[in-house]
Amino acid sequence: MTIIIDTDPGIDDAIAILYALQHPRLEVAALTTVAGNIGLSVTTRNAGRICALARVPTSVYAGAAAPLGKEPRPETGIHGNDGLGGVEFPEPEAAPASADAVAAMVALLEAHPPQTVDLHCLGPLTNLALLLERAPEVARRIRRVIAMGGAVDEPGNVGPKAEFNIAHDPHAAAAVLAAGLPLTLIPLDATRQLRADAAYIADLRATGQSPAIAAAALIEAYFAATNGAESRPLHDPCVPLLAEHPELFRIEERSLDVELDTGALVPGPHRLNVAMGLDADALRTALLEGLAR
Ligand code: BDR
Ligand code: CA
Repeated sequence: MTIIIDTDPGIDDAIAILYALQHPRLEVAALTTVAGNIGLSVTTRNAGRICALARVPTSVYAGAAAPLGKEPRPETGIHGNDGLGGVEFPEPEAAPASADAVAAMVALLEAHPPQTVDLHCLGPLTNLALLLERAPEVARRIRRVIAMGGAVDEPGNVGPKAEFNIAHDPHAAAAVLAAGLPLTLIPLDATRQLRADAAYIADLRATGQSPAIAAAALIEAYFAATNGAESRPLHDPCVPLLAEHPELFRIEERSLDVELDTGALVPGPHRLNVAMGLDADALRTALLEGLAR
């Protein structure tokens, strides 16, 4: 399966990308970056650092430096000033490509037959919204979009009902929901169920494999940002895990929209597939095995 990963790394983005890069059935055609957890130059450098650690050369394309219609709101409190919790990563082996993220998406989608490329969105949806604006007919060539974002029945994480990826760029999220793409959304309702604790960190380390050891260090850094939590949610890894193990997720059809001033998901006219539950034990095992390949 050919995928483009659109991302703002980001501790949990990094774990998702490491998993996808190791996976024999996921062919990562490109990483496209967006401002989100931290500014664009840092998310772009981090994307290159993650590929260098995985030793999987992958083109990195920088995308939107700011959300549509509002100021960026970085999450350095959780992801640290370097976006990767201070965890040691090698430097990128190559500079980012000169094309921007949207141009790269267009070129890749046109270079592959229609309905053969999936888009995995791990950050704010700014780049996808720009693709829809600039080349809507090319966006229709995407087979499937899987995006981490939103809170449906659960409380939000940056507001009473607002989740970071959607609240960071609600205009982009609203445009994506309205576009009628084959979209599966994975909100906090599901991602909060996939949790890592100290025993999981030890299991990752015990594999002796560098992507798993890096994931252990990333999760440890993630703990440092909280006071005494016993486990932390693995939001973004749910995206490639859903691609690989759909049977381990409970998907429901919901009719939703985005409230532009708060970034909350609210009842609305757009019918979407939404992951509302998952088999946490089986997915933790799948993630561990994938990172230890
Ligand atoms: C989302 O926000 C970011 O901080 C994480 O990387 C994830 O994509 C969770 O709300
Ligand atoms: Ca992210």
